Amino acid sequence: MKASVVRLSREQAKEVLGRLDSAIGSSKGRSTREQAVRLLNSAVPSYTWVGIYVVEGSDLVLDAWAGPAATEHTRIPIGQGVCGFAAKAAKTEIVSDVSKDPRYLQCFLSTKSEIVVPILSQGAVVGEIDIDGDQLDAFSSLDREFLEAVAKKASAQWA
Ligand code: SME
Repeated sequence: MKASVVRLSREQAKEVLGRLDSAIGSSKGRSTREQAVRLLNSAVPSYTWVGIYVVEGSDLVLDAWAGPAATEHTRIPIGQGVCGFAAKAAKTEIVSDVSKDPRYLQCFLSTKSEIVVPILSQGAVVGEIDIDGDQLDAFSSLDREFLEAVAKKASAQWA
């Protein structure tokens, strides 16, 4: 029997957005971003690994992460990988099966799907949220909507 995918629910999305607001409010800095990735990773079971990359020149540099293991991809040139593609296109990318996406840069053997959401400030990409999932097809349009709302809040970090 095929195991069913456990995805984010609308109630959960609303609840986690509220928790992010009360935990983070208007505070800024790396420890705030670390708190945010920890909250996302622990509150949403399908978010196996959660990272924030920030733009530094023509690269994305890992700024904060939460999950079972560190990644070797701490600096990704814009344009490379799913991360670099999303940053270049300034658009959310959902990969339902990473083994079928030639752009994919592997971090963890367990990763089956990925979502990358750019963080924009004054129209420019300043960073992104990158989430790896251990299930195939772990991310839906609800994750996109939810994480784009999170990215909007995160852009205050650059205001
Ligand atoms: N898979 C990403 C690299 C970052 S790791 O997932 C943490 C990519 O293809 O860009």
